[in-house]
Amino acid sequence: MKDPATMEQALEPTADGAWVLVDDGCDALRESDRETRFTVSNGFLATRASRAINQSQQRTAPPSTYVAGLFDTRDTERPVPELIPGPDWVQVRVSLPGGQLVQHFGPGPSHPLTLDMRRGLLLTECRLVEGAAVSLRLRLLRLASQDQRSLGLQLLHLETEKGEAEITLEASMDGFDSDLTSERLENEFGVWRTHLSGKGLAMAAAVALRIDGQNIPPTSLAPFRWTWTWKTRPGQVVCFDRIVALSRSDARDQDPGERARDDLDGAREKSWRSVVQKHETAWSNRWSRSDVKVEGDGTAQKALRFAVYHLNSAANPEDPRVSIGARALTGADYRGHVFWDTEIFLLPFYILTWPEAARSLLMFRFHTLDGARAKAADRGWRGAFYAWESTDTGLETTPEQVVGPDRQIVDILTGAQEQHISADVAYAVWQYWQATGDDEFLIAAGAEILLETGRFWSSRAQLEADGLHHIRGVIGPDEYHETIDDNAFTNVMARRNIRRALEVTALLRERWPDQWAALSGRLGLVEVELEHWRSVADAMATGLDSDTGLFEQFTGYFDLEDVDLSAYAGRSVPMDVVLGRERTQRSQVIKQADVVALLALLPEEFPGKTGAANFRYYEPRCGHGSSLSTAMHGLVAARLGDTEMALDYFHRTAAIDLADTKVAIGGGIHIAAQGGLWMMTVFGFAGLSLRSDGVALAPHLPRNWSSLDFSMDWRGRQLTINISQADHRLHATLQAGEPMILTLHGRAHKLSLDQALVADLGGPAPK
Ligand code: BGC
Repeated sequence: MKDPATMEQALEPTADGAWVLVDDGCDALRESDRETRFTVSNGFLATRASRAINQSQQRTAPPSTYVAGLFDTRDTERPVPELIPGPDWVQVRVSLPGGQLVQHFGPGPSHPLTLDMRRGLLLTECRLVEGAAVSLRLRLLRLASQDQRSLGLQLLHLETEKGEAEITLEASMDGFDSDLTSERLENEFGVWRTHLSGKGLAMAAAVALRIDGQNIPPTSLAPFRWTWTWKTRPGQVVCFDRIVALSRSDARDQDPGERARDDLDGAREKSWRSVVQKHETAWSNRWSRSDVKVEGDGTAQKALRFAVYHLNSAANPEDPRVSIGARALTGADYRGHVFWDTEIFLLPFYILTWPEAARSLLMFRFHTLDGARAKAADRGWRGAFYAWESTDTGLETTPEQVVGPDRQIVDILTGAQEQHISADVAYAVWQYWQATGDDEFLIAAGAEILLETGRFWSSRAQLEADGLHHIRGVIGPDEYHETIDDNAFTNVMARRNIRRALEVTALLRERWPDQWAALSGRLGLVEVELEHWRSVADAMATGLDSDTGLFEQFTGYFDLEDVDLSAYAGRSVPMDVVLGRERTQRSQVIKQADVVALLALLPEEFPGKTGAANFRYYEPRCGHGSSLSTAMHGLVAARLGDTEMALDYFHRTAAIDLADTKVAIGGGIHIAAQGGLWMMTVFGFAGLSLRSDGVALAPHLPRNWSSLDFSMDWRGRQLTINISQADHRLHATLQAGEPMILTLHGRAHKLSLDQALVADLGGPAPK
């Protein structure tokens, strides 16, 4: 990737429409949604697509910038830590002496937004006028560097189309209101601190303005406020650039200032061109490992690019002290908190396309093990009981009450009862290790997570008179039903967790006995405890009806009221609002995939036709009251070969963040739905599964998808897959790494660097 020679070149979006998302509407009610959707982020620094030019002082829109891990508690009475907004560093005011420039919404560019997903940047455009006398065309670029995550860059190209006037341009930063106290404030440098958590935030900035190629120093300068005044004339071109470097420190006695200064100096030395060039190269590397191409369905292609864009924007492989919140860094909903969304809906993407990011996310769970151990101990259990909602400390941060969709105050029991989170973390640890073969991680961190979560379940499940171990008083993924017993998802995932923990003990003993001795010694693990784990796993209550092959979602579920959801088609609110909380709880209506999620994650627990039987039973009972739901259903439908239904779920999932008709998304991207879209495509339509000897595919593409291409990593290898319905062939190429086995519809093929695979897709050719 070359340096862009001119600013105009940098401002030119990618020509291929499949790579860009454009919005040229101007609907004040949807402004906040657009800001979310067009966010630029690198997993450390994120800036929403908030308006930079002449933003109204009375703006009520959400803050524009977030810095990962910058958590603090605002309300000390009901302390729930939340992500504190960072500096709105992109503000620019352009005015005439009378201040009368207005945004022009006539023909031509008004405020179009272009998200150039290939290059990872936001391009905007607007026109400012004073009556018929003056007209200025402004084009802007904004990015959060994927190459060096502390850096943000803004470019502004201002061209005078008409008129001669005295123009004032003021570049500024909007403050943080009362969330941070200033420790140091210089003209181009500041350090701030959160009140209670004592985290530090530093920002250093450099700006430059050129008129017709000439560098012009600011007319006046104040902290983070640079002003220039000059005389304009038709044809004049002004180029402004601003580079900011931010850094965070986590302890009160740590100063984040030096790092911000050093990073800025490094970037300034090389100029904005090199910031753009390195950022684009980093994005190009990301895309080469993670792009998904669909031919024959432009909407699906755009949706997948959008998903992969946001997934690549959300992670930071360099910071294992933070994870990804339910809205990533794109909005304030859920306060930046981390849920099971990360392990179950996001990790698969990272594991298979960006193992460094996956490792870092799992290291966050390793670093928060102490919090999880404390939560278990507090409640009288052993091992690690992860927080349902975490910030950066691992302590439970689920609020105790919220305002429900029907505006009533609701007690939130998920923090205490949604316990499957521990098994979800363990699931992701195992999946990571299986797919990467990263033994070093397993020995240093993964094994301890597996053992401590396995230990948790073994102390949590209680042996009862029927000879089975029961887990009572939980909430499963379906949050409409609280304080339930033996949730199938929880119990089967817990059983799997215990078994993996036992496998890891055997593995460590055999391959790394010294490390086993040290770890088991530290955790106080003795044979009799492991024996107990085995007995818990072997006699776990699961609610499986061996006659029908159906799992009962929880004890008593089959006896609840069976509500026909098709009678409520077209509703605009979730089912618990339609029926009310109490009736919903007494009914079989499910908020989101629960047994279906189990089927998606552990298909081997559903032999023969039982997978289809469970899906056909539970699918019509689901109200999809969570954005996590449709993707799991689509994944399973695709695996079962019902591609038409799967495709419908695909488009419903895509619409969550892309369609203006759906939920308001001002509070942030539903990043789990984006991860789910990728999972549905790769695990569902391509039918990927990971095996100990390689990977297996069982494709079921929708009829209109003439081909599907994706890349993946597997145990240090990189491969690209092309499934072509048009010529009824699978093409698989190993790009790097040792030979491996690829199984297609049950038949094993060898794949090596000098031997690409071209195989018949099997089954009848599409008509
Ligand atoms: C869902 C949870 C999810 C959370 C954050 C809730 O509505 O029910 O499963 O973890 O949102 O996305």
